[in-house]
Amino acid sequence: MTTRQDNASSLIEERRQYQADSLRSDQLLASPVAQFEKWLGDARAAKLIDATAMALSTVDQQHQPHCRMVLLKQFDDDGFAWFTDRSSAKGENLAGNDKACLLFFWRELERQVRIEGIVRQLSDQESDQYFYSRPPGSRFSAASSMQSSVVANRAELEANVEKLNQQHPDGNVPRPSRWGGYSLQPIYFEFWQGRDDRLHDRFGYRAENDSWIIERLSP
Ligand SMILES: Cc1cc2nc3c(=O)[nH]c(=O)nc-3n(C[C@H](O)[C@H](O)[C@H](O)COP(=O)(O)O)c2cc1C
Repeated sequence: MTTRQDNASSLIEERRQYQADSLRSDQLLASPVAQFEKWLGDARAAKLIDATAMALSTVDQQHQPHCRMVLLKQFDDDGFAWFTDRSSAKGENLAGNDKACLLFFWRELERQVRIEGIVRQLSDQESDQYFYSRPPGSRFSAASSMQSSVVANRAELEANVEKLNQQHPDGNVPRPSRWGGYSLQPIYFEFWQGRDDRLHDRFGYRAENDSWIIERLSP
């Protein structure tokens, strides 16, 4: 059995220096969306796996936060979008509380970006556009699975896909109305660059009167 003592001795030694880069205020772009685009571009240029993966945090009616990964599919000044089943746990959370937080971690670049804001649903047209761009297998899985609901076993999941396949032998399964996109309109960004001895560089962008206030934060 692993005891807290074993854990502690092995985890305590788990550390490294962060030395890949630095971030100075004179390098920051005035728009946090442009700054994000630059850093995501660096992550993609470095061919990082799942560079667009982000942790999405939502909060339920009992104020309990929940966190899971989703993939960023679109972003611009109006928001940062992902697609999912709106009847899922995250969808339920967002229906009761539209505040959410996104987090990117690009380990090889020693960078973290936090984005906080207000979430809205994307239109049917935007959801259709993305749904029908997905490979058929993903469409069948999404349409046959009520995300976050309890199932007896994997066989049940596979039987549901098979049933849907028989109903749509041409492969054209329609987008279920419960499946679609969300977009987070940012009100706060934070860019973190790891530095030596944990004296990291951190900059926050706060939305204030239609402009962005940039502040350096203590690490
Ligand atoms: C790298 C990665 C990317 C993921 N992308 C998505 C996504 O774009 N949409 C989605 O609904 N779930 C995605 N998932 C699955 C979610 O993390 C999660 O299991 C699922 O959405 C159910 O979450 P919920 O029960 O909190 O609503 C992804 C998981 C991983 C690990």
